[in-house]
Amino acid sequence: MLPKIVTEIPGPRSRELAARLRRSESRNVTFLDAEFPIFWARAHGVNVWDVDGNRFLDLTSAFAVAGLGHTHPSMVEAMNKQAATLLHAMGDVHPTAVKVRLCEELGRVTFGRWNGGSAKVILGSAGFEAVEAALKTAFLHTGRRGVIAFSGGYHGLGYGALEACGWPYFREPFRRQLAEFATLLPYPHCFHCPFGNEDASRLGGDPPACEKSCLDQLEAKLRGVLATGEIGCVLVEPAQGRGGEIFPPAEFLPLLRRLCDESGAVLVFDEIYTGFHRTGPFFAGEAAGVVPDLICVGKALTGGFPLSACIGRAAVMDAWPESTGEALHTSTFLGHPVGCAMALASIAEHEKPDVSAQVIAKGARLLAALRAIHSSRIGEVRGRGMMIGVELVQGADDARPDSAAAIRVVKRALREGLLVLAGGPEGNVLSLTPPFGLADSEIDWAAARVGEFLTTES
Ligand SMILES: Cc1ncc(COP(=O)(O)O)c(C=O)c1O
Repeated sequence: MLPKIVTEIPGPRSRELAARLRRSESRNVTFLDAEFPIFWARAHGVNVWDVDGNRFLDLTSAFAVAGLGHTHPSMVEAMNKQAATLLHAMGDVHPTAVKVRLCEELGRVTFGRWNGGSAKVILGSAGFEAVEAALKTAFLHTGRRGVIAFSGGYHGLGYGALEACGWPYFREPFRRQLAEFATLLPYPHCFHCPFGNEDASRLGGDPPACEKSCLDQLEAKLRGVLATGEIGCVLVEPAQGRGGEIFPPAEFLPLLRRLCDESGAVLVFDEIYTGFHRTGPFFAGEAAGVVPDLICVGKALTGGFPLSACIGRAAVMDAWPESTGEALHTSTFLGHPVGCAMALASIAEHEKPDVSAQVIAKGARLLAALRAIHSSRIGEVRGRGMMIGVELVQGADDARPDSAAAIRVVKRALREGLLVLAGGPEGNVLSLTPPFGLADSEIDWAAARVGEFLTTES
């Protein structure tokens, strides 16, 4: 359903809640100003209603979580059933059958589908916990403390994941407490070539002719760091999500696989953002035909419950010693039965035959509509499936980021009933990760609005 705005934005109830939040929550958490935020009251499918009764069209899936739509009936049913039966168990002491089934299913939909291999799982709650489980696993498996991660990469903000974070903004305030085990290398990005290739930055879009040279330069850097013999892990997003919806050249992941095989480092795909059909295939790495050693999932795994997982090849995961009664890596809510039940329901939905085709078709329509917008503020429109970035720049011949324009669009969109986020380390990329069930008319309407926002001042 298209938006319906019945009050000013933010409405009186949202403003009242914002004032109370300002007094009660740490001031760094929720951004509050006269135009932002609205407070959510309910959501269904592709729509969100705020506490003032306004209806919005959601182009975010609430941080790429609700790909199958908000309050999806299968997940709600699984949640209600499980909550009424058993709300909490003892994850690593006296667990549940539903945890067993989820571990089996996670192995089946990853390594089972990829190469028929057996897999083992460590469950967590937030995404960063899955990443930290992967970092620990790689360390135990290789005995090497070093990690290669990438500029612009985002893996969550726990101290371990933060160490591998490619955003100075998040690292700097805590840098002196970080353990300094990560080396950040450039993430290949055609629009802003990290190797300074001007042609690449002007061509944009699909990998340009210089693709090989960019990867040659990256390979030299990777080899240089791997030659220290201290790297046990290469942690990478197959496509960068919060980094600004960046899709690397096709040969990037195969290069990482090759170098990890040569050096013995563990290849970790962080698919917390890209997993569960966000980019079209079940997992984004599948498009490159590359199988990692470990994969981290979260967000859309449940469609709306904090549950994450690090899934790995059994031979790598078995670097963990058998538990002797005290798990080395666990938490109170590990394997939460409600989350496990929802994840099982979500996996069943994702295995329905038409999901991938739907994401590809809808995403192609949205991408084409956005590419048809003529605005000198648009540097590049890029995307795969329902993961699309509109990078805003200073002008037709000036690719410097225009984050002020992105903020203006986000706020104007909100006033007109459209939920959009600005992403990327500079905050200048309109980040569109809608629920997959967006109707064609909603796609066309949303793209037309974005075009209008970019071509007329608010
Ligand atoms: C690729 C990726 N990894 C990890 C995380 C961290 O997940 P969480 O915020 O649940 O800790 C995110 C969150 O956006 C993400 O996009």
